[in-house]
Amino acid sequence: MGVKRRVVSTRACEWSGEEGLCLLKQPHSSSYQGGDDKRVTGAWLSQVSLEKIDPNVTLFGGDLMTLLVEVITHEDYHVQVKISEGSSSGGGGGGGGSQRSSSRYEVPIPLNVPDTPGVAPWYSVSVPTPGSTFSLDITRNSTGTKIFETVGPLSYEDQFLQLHLRLSSTFLYGLGEGMHSSFLHSFHNRTTSPIFARDQLTYEGDQNEYGVHPYYMVLEDDLGTSHSVLLYNSNAMEYSTFLLSDGTPGLTLRTIGGVLDFHILMGPKPDHLNAQYTNLVGRPLLPPYWSLGFGLSRWGYNSTQHVREVVARNKAANIPQDVQTLDIDYMQDKRDFTIDSNDTWSDLPNLVQELHNDGVKVILIFDPAIATDLTSYPPAMNGRDADVFVKWLSSDLVPGDQCQGCGDYLVGRVWPGDTFYPDFFNPQTQLWWTKEVADFHKVVGFDGMWVDMNEPSSFGTNLYSLMCPDNQWDDPPYPTKAAHIADNVSKRLSDKTICMSSNHSDGNTTFIHYDVHSLYGWSHAKVTYRALESLFPGRRPFVLSRSTFPGSGRYTIHWLGDNFSTWKQMRLSIIGMLEFNLFGIPMVGADICGFSGHPHQELCTRWTQLGAFYSFSRNHNMQGWADQDPAVWPQVAQVARDVLALRYQYLPYLYTLLYLAHTEGGSVVRPLVNQYPGDMTARGVDDQFMWGSGIMVAPVLEEGAMERDVYFPQGAWYDLVTGAPVVTGGPTTSRVQAPLEVLPLYVLGGVVLPFQHPALTTTQSRKNGMGVTVAPDEAGEACGLLFWDDGESQLDHNNNDNNNIFLMHFNFTQNELTGEVQQTSPVVDNLKLETVQLLGVSQSPQGVKVNDVALSLDHWGYDALCGVLVANIDLPLGERFSVRVDY
Ligand code: NOJ
Repeated sequence: MGVKRRVVSTRACEWSGEEGLCLLKQPHSSSYQGGDDKRVTGAWLSQVSLEKIDPNVTLFGGDLMTLLVEVITHEDYHVQVKISEGSSSGGGGGGGGSQRSSSRYEVPIPLNVPDTPGVAPWYSVSVPTPGSTFSLDITRNSTGTKIFETVGPLSYEDQFLQLHLRLSSTFLYGLGEGMHSSFLHSFHNRTTSPIFARDQLTYEGDQNEYGVHPYYMVLEDDLGTSHSVLLYNSNAMEYSTFLLSDGTPGLTLRTIGGVLDFHILMGPKPDHLNAQYTNLVGRPLLPPYWSLGFGLSRWGYNSTQHVREVVARNKAANIPQDVQTLDIDYMQDKRDFTIDSNDTWSDLPNLVQELHNDGVKVILIFDPAIATDLTSYPPAMNGRDADVFVKWLSSDLVPGDQCQGCGDYLVGRVWPGDTFYPDFFNPQTQLWWTKEVADFHKVVGFDGMWVDMNEPSSFGTNLYSLMCPDNQWDDPPYPTKAAHIADNVSKRLSDKTICMSSNHSDGNTTFIHYDVHSLYGWSHAKVTYRALESLFPGRRPFVLSRSTFPGSGRYTIHWLGDNFSTWKQMRLSIIGMLEFNLFGIPMVGADICGFSGHPHQELCTRWTQLGAFYSFSRNHNMQGWADQDPAVWPQVAQVARDVLALRYQYLPYLYTLLYLAHTEGGSVVRPLVNQYPGDMTARGVDDQFMWGSGIMVAPVLEEGAMERDVYFPQGAWYDLVTGAPVVTGGPTTSRVQAPLEVLPLYVLGGVVLPFQHPALTTTQSRKNGMGVTVAPDEAGEACGLLFWDDGESQLDHNNNDNNNIFLMHFNFTQNELTGEVQQTSPVVDNLKLETVQLLGVSQSPQGVKVNDVALSLDHWGYDALCGVLVANIDLPLGERFSVRVDY
């Protein structure tokens, strides 16, 4: 392969750097028409061939002359449309692409599809007939709505695939990872956003961020009937939203490799889509209970002593803390699996022991890149011996000044200086990583692993460190907008990462980095998850990964990356969290109080309130900025104490939601649109969110604001803290008071929220008494569920009888609350049900009976002002019970 910059004879797009000025000239004759071979129409599979209309017309060259369209019925609600290479494709078409192998790259991660297809599909498919111009429609039978409707030409070139869709409405959500300014996409100005894993600070706008999620949801009609689409492709891609000439919403999808493989799910409601999608890509893991607690972290702890001081001052301020995270500071020369030998960190093992004695867990950071020291750094030497690092695509690409002994490994640069990149596809890499993790764990007894920089990141690529060659992988004819965003200095796909012309192998198949780049974080998280499984047999691993892909939720949780201490970024973090819930990674949060910059105390106060209701709650910041843990400011500490106590109180509810997401695919942090898909206003709300269907959080997001408007969709809403009714009926928007110490929090009538009296760690709180908040709906009814286990054992999905879990179903009707045990377990043997808090009690009760026995007057009380009855009971949690209120 030469190193000359590749000359592309066809330039279909000139980037001006300004949105909308990349004009793709795509004539009709560049598209395809129905062919007459390979036509199969069966109950669950339709196949048709496509042929290029004019073989000589191309955009970037390398056109495939024949294509195969397969429409596969997987489930009644799930259809796959795959457009791949037809059998007789040749090169042809103008500019010339690479020599293609007979089969194109496809994402090598299997999706979960059933062995037997659905029998009564909810859709009909229309494919091109012989000689007719390419178009493909999928229609929902029950409504006649076209849910997948191609418009205009199809491009299928070796390194440029493009398809345009007419969407059934402008209610489009998803597509990431990026920092969107609204949860709902906009169509009015044509917007193009890249999707490609990149170490990218969270700038608002059309930047590609750390992970890749080519998945979107659309609401089709006023009732909220919805579908979703996954484009299962891992090459660099981009999407554009715009209005077609007839004013209907359009979506263009472009990718520069692989195949067009769409999975279309039919809901019909947003929450069904969540379940269908996570069934397809893999259900999210159930995190260990301790990881639901609040965590402190920062980059820039100077020493173990610094960590001790921070932990101590937060403890002294009565701020709950379950997790202490340590960043690269603890390492020797920023190298994985080492401890700084300097006095400042050498007693790290003792610190970990002290934290453990206090019930605090420790998460350590591990970057993928490994320093290239092959003489005195065992992880690198062991890795070389096992041959686990990413290699150059061919030996002639190895730079002349490559380090001694580095062979044909690609060498990039991260924190420790020059680095190798483990190839996590290689089975040998799993063995090597597992052993390094286990050996290091003998030195420092960490509890979970934070895997960062796994886009993968490499500093100064094409500028001052790694120089990528000029060839079709590093300079594809159409590099996507990823190469054109503002801070891409070298204007190449490889900016801030490793060269596209490098190699991975799973032992059987070789993959070009160009194809699998965006799977790096997925593979890093998976291998790390397996390493922890073997380190802690039977226990649920904790992995926190920066880069993710569809299906990553099986192995990792996520935080939203390097944000800024600004009001705007705090607000947008809600959108990121909602999007990751859509993407099947429900445990997610942003760096509370911001990563870069120093927050004022008002911002940090408000952010701590919001962050207390992130599913993953961690305060983290950047080297060079002052400490920002809650105890730094008395005012933030006061608020943190109260709001984190509320978080801890309702952790059993959050945990139950995570269990349901893990087993059935329900949503955890739920956008209002999921709960109220037929409510036009709710569809646009992205400054409020819900935990399941029970709790609504409406944080204050503006500087100086001491009140805010809250949208209450239809239902009975109560204030979660006072229990007082707030709105009944609705929908309505109300201005609510929210002085600095108040986070507006509501509970929706119809649910029973399990809770537990809080403590400073979950180790402590898990021993406390439990309770329920019963919030009746307008019919006076409510129900709910509690899931409980030891907080850390893996579940056996093949045999539920092996699971040591407790499930209790709560039901409130006709003034009586019952708890029915659905699955019993000794894990609740020492737990008590101590409190029943009944909201919406508008008349003074005469008495309360527990299991038909009257409760003495000193064991219950009624607050007429708020309409709340509190009964203090003392029942074993593990048994059926009833609590009846008599009027
Ligand atoms: C980048 C991560 O996003 C950030 O959270 C971390 O502090 C730094 N790397 C240093 O490890």
